[in-house]
Amino acid sequence: MAQNTKTSTVASEVEPRTVRAVERVFAALPASDGDGVKLNRIIGRPGLSELDPFLLLDEFRSDEAADYIGGFPDHPHRGFETVTYMLAGRMRHGDNQGNVGLLRPGSVQWMTAGRGIVHSEMPEQEDGLLQGFQLWVNLPAKDKMTAPRYQDIDPEKISTVDVDGVSVKVLAGEVGDVKGAVDTGATDPTYLDVHLPAGSAFVQPVSAGYNAFVYVYDGEAVIGVGANAKTLKRSEIGVLSDGEEIRVAAGAAPARLLIIAGKPLGEPVARYGPFVMNTMDEIRQAADDYMAGRF
Ligand code: CO
Repeated sequence: MAQNTKTSTVASEVEPRTVRAVERVFAALPASDGDGVKLNRIIGRPGLSELDPFLLLDEFRSDEAADYIGGFPDHPHRGFETVTYMLAGRMRHGDNQGNVGLLRPGSVQWMTAGRGIVHSEMPEQEDGLLQGFQLWVNLPAKDKMTAPRYQDIDPEKISTVDVDGVSVKVLAGEVGDVKGAVDTGATDPTYLDVHLPAGSAFVQPVSAGYNAFVYVYDGEAVIGVGANAKTLKRSEIGVLSDGEEIRVAAGAAPARLLIIAGKPLGEPVARYGPFVMNTMDEIRQAADDYMAGRF
């Protein structure tokens, strides 16, 4: 520790942490992907093509089988991670390397596609509600061609923290001294599912310089504080300013939202469908490798 600076600091001199404000708001965009699956596209759409290191966020939520029954038949990925978080219903996952898994309500699959996989994600139900999210997290150049890896986290393995009546599921990152179950890499992501009872509030510290957003999926919530506070309605994403903490609060009704933050990579992004690399040459290589069955 440096000795030539102040040797003591009293509490009153400690700067309060800067609270992040909502800088941009986008309503989720109805879209279709896979074999006709209807979903809400939140990131990876016009106006918000990415939020480094996050490349895409989809919300699927329907109790009409026709909206989801086609699922996501065999398709490739290379160069990033897909994170599937189920809230309701079941999805069957299988890939070309023999990995299979059943995603149950409350479970998370954190898949590092790395140098490439071909997989399918199919609903394991013919009726009822199917609800959840898929987030794409970019990999740094040095990890894009890493071996594929799955972290299938059962619902029981995901810590739920109660903070003054607010229930927070810690998928990744930390809330207080509770760590998320997912082993994360260079982008150091935080992924929280926050359930706010009416009239409650929650504060989450976050590293300055990290990109962060809030997505409200039930009710509405006030993000930020004082003159910078802004209300987000259901199905709205708020991209946050820089700062050291995130504050969210519910009004007269309960609210549910995601808080997601990560360290930006600051690297060039070359993107074509399910391939996300740094250069177009690498994209062409990915397409060649896929077509030649080298995934
Ligand atoms: Co996929």
